[in-house]
Amino acid sequence: MSEETLRLSVEKLVYGGYGLARAGGRVVFVRYAAPKELVDAEILKERSDYSEAVVRKVIVPSSSRREPFCPHYGDCGGCQLQHLDYTSQLTAKEEILRDSLSRIGKIKDIKMLDPIPSGQEAGYRIRVQFKVSKGKVGFFRWNSREVVEVDSCPLAHPKINELLPKLKEVAVHIKELQEIHVLYSPSEEEFLLKFLTPTEMERDLLFKLKEDLLPKEVVGVGNYSRLRLFLNRRFWIGRDYTYIRVGRWTFRVSADSFFQVNHTLWERFISAVTENVSFKKAVDLHCGVGFFTLPLSEKGNFVEGADANGSAVDDAEYNAKINGRDNVAFVKSDAYRFLKSRGGEVIDLVLLDPPRGGLEEGEIEILAKNKPERIVYVSCNPSTLARDLKVLLKRGYVLEGTRLVDMFPQTYHVESVSYLRVSE
Ligand SMILES: C[S@@+](CC[C@H](N)C(=O)[O-])C[C@H]1O[C@@H](n2cnc3c(N)ncnc32)[C@H](O)[C@@H]1O
Repeated sequence: MSEETLRLSVEKLVYGGYGLARAGGRVVFVRYAAPKELVDAEILKERSDYSEAVVRKVIVPSSSRREPFCPHYGDCGGCQLQHLDYTSQLTAKEEILRDSLSRIGKIKDIKMLDPIPSGQEAGYRIRVQFKVSKGKVGFFRWNSREVVEVDSCPLAHPKINELLPKLKEVAVHIKELQEIHVLYSPSEEEFLLKFLTPTEMERDLLFKLKEDLLPKEVVGVGNYSRLRLFLNRRFWIGRDYTYIRVGRWTFRVSADSFFQVNHTLWERFISAVTENVSFKKAVDLHCGVGFFTLPLSEKGNFVEGADANGSAVDDAEYNAKINGRDNVAFVKSDAYRFLKSRGGEVIDLVLLDPPRGGLEEGEIEILAKNKPERIVYVSCNPSTLARDLKVLLKRGYVLEGTRLVDMFPQTYHVESVSYLRVSE
């Protein structure tokens, strides 16, 4: 072993996809480790309170370890858990969820409800963001901005992989291309593409690339710039929306609206969020295109949906019409302003599905004052979920149960649904 290599006993997996180990009283976060195994790991970074390492050799493998199925695994940073069998991934994510709620949320006696596994381990993503640099189209390395070229991504819908060679041809013609975002509709069998560049592309060039190089299934293409987390549309050519069918529901999804990534669990996800509810008035505070709002509207008298994104709200209004739901209304508003404007109104059920940062302080404050009878909290980040639940539980709610929804197999991401009821 070299000086920077340590023999480590890995206890368990933690959020971020790392194995947790200890060496001389220090915590070591180990990439590509599995729970309960012995490894030789190379130290990559030393921080004041922990070290980061990567497995170089497995000495005694975990029973959950397997051969990853992607040839780019370990090089490409998109996946962190492919070396674990799928059942172990689910167990590890449930443990991470439970551990976050108890450690950060200080919640005792957490009732874990049956998880919703992905319908498929691979081929589940209908949205993919390819990174582009120096002629390479692929994904970033783990914790790096270096692009690793891929010939296909097993997590992506097979149709996206079929399109990838064409995307690479197109990439050659676009100067300073940074990212290509693909949205595929399995029901319409068509694509929307976004090309991200720091300076504006020539419209004629993008038009020609669409007409001459890309297949006709690409119905629309746009040029965008990135402003931190947000995308800014410069122009669009062709149709800028598609339709996505989920069971008996049809959603119009515009290029700038959000849609849940994993097509193999959409229906079970909707059922998990809308099961066992009844209400006079419900509010869906991060409604997107109405993915949960419309099915929810069948369970009670009236639902209001709000979303900060105007494109999503336009889609949601349209979707209510084409799906024949007349007991829903939508407002373009951030959650805080929406709740404030409904001060004092009796709301029986609030559905939350915020971005990774969770709820804002003001939102929880008004929510706690309004005291809806029930809250269903969909989360894509167990740490912010735990932080928010801690406050809600202090303010008179009980957590009836939490359920893992495995939206992102092979990756460290933990999606969940939590069910709260007012206790006083
Ligand atoms: C994870 S998506 C969920 C959307 C929807 N529930 C679905 O399942 O398709 C989060 C949504 O929250 C919206 N959003 C982000 N910040 C918001 C805020 N402060 N207030 C209201 N909506 C917000 C985004 O535009 C996005 O549509």
